[in-house]
Amino acid sequence: MASGLHDRRGFDSLLRINLVLLALSLLMIFVNWKLGLASFIFLCITFISSEAASAPPANSPDQFEAWLRRKGARKPVLLCLGDSLTHGTVSSSFTPDIPYKLSSTLGLSPPTQNFFMDPLWVVNAGQNCITTHGVLHERLHRALGCFPDFVLIMIGTNDMQCLVNGTLAKAIVKINKLPEVPTMEVYERNLTKIIDYIHNHTPQTHIGVCTLPPMGENLDANPNRIIRQANEVIERVVKKAPGKVTLIPVYSRFESILEKKSKKSGSKFEYHYILSSIQVPLFYMIPALFDWNRLASLCGNTLLVDGLHLCERGRDELVNLIVEWLLSANVAKAIAVKS
Ligand SMILES: *[C@@H]1O[C@H](CO)[C@@H](O)[C@H](O)[C@H]1NC(C)=O
Ligand SMILES: *[C@@H]1O[C@H](CO)[C@@H](O)[C@H](O)[C@H]1NC(C)=O
Repeated sequence: MASGLHDRRGFDSLLRINLVLLALSLLMIFVNWKLGLASFIFLCITFISSEAASAPPANSPDQFEAWLRRKGARKPVLLCLGDSLTHGTVSSSFTPDIPYKLSSTLGLSPPTQNFFMDPLWVVNAGQNCITTHGVLHERLHRALGCFPDFVLIMIGTNDMQCLVNGTLAKAIVKINKLPEVPTMEVYERNLTKIIDYIHNHTPQTHIGVCTLPPMGENLDANPNRIIRQANEVIERVVKKAPGKVTLIPVYSRFESILEKKSKKSGSKFEYHYILSSIQVPLFYMIPALFDWNRLASLCGNTLLVDGLHLCERGRDELVNLIVEWLLSANVAKAIAVKS
């Protein structure tokens, strides 16, 4: 495992193959310059966007450690554990928005720093492609090194993808080197262990556990039937958990919005990989034209850009819910004590 808290899982072989092809396309220019140049440009675009999509977030735990060494005083810390939805490089990133929304809700002046912003330092330990197993065994111990006052957990979408489709399951097991294919029972055990681990190591920490957002915007389709089962599991785990654990109802908030739109519009969940591989290059190469909302609208989606990841509208709904939870967990007092 890499020494840092992030790696490029799911993208590493793609990046390597891309580099080799780039070199070949340069040679090709001497043989057939039109074809060579066209492939060179295409490969540059795919390389730059895969690099950006797999890069660690600017507010990663590693950055936080370095930054904290230079700082004296402390503010309350929110640690976010999750997958690509939290990582925020293939969709609209929600973690940087939390301090803004929080300060405006509390009537404080807006944040000014770059990555870790007063009044609440948000650390992003999200990792593309990861499952509950990876969070538990590879991430949790080191991520808790930032001594969080609050921990947000939104994990399980990749575990559930394994239940939806065998092809996806094979890919996710391989990328994460999982000992077995996740099942609902395995998911429940792993999620319970994650919460227990946090509670045992930092009993005073408030834990917010999100229900999983829909997979595809058609709520009647099979992937969302599985998501609703997972969310029942999450509710059960939160009820039984020791300590200060709160359920954050992401699914029902999204459901109340999606129920109002036509069932037929929106991309099929199964196409999210293909869509994403077109949308991500457009977002990174032509940002003036394509924000995530625009890309979502082009596919008939409202909250999920490719049927899985969040666009800005989805992000804003999530941030509202997170701030509601933080307020109920007395974040105002924590800020007052540490300033
Ligand atoms: C966590 O999930 C993996 C599969 O992804 C499974 O092999 C492992 O047994 C699970 N851990 C627990 C404690 O259930
Ligand atoms: C499973 O996913 C793959 C890859 O996205 C897709 O080609 C295939 O049609 C899916 N299978 C089913 C049964 O939906």
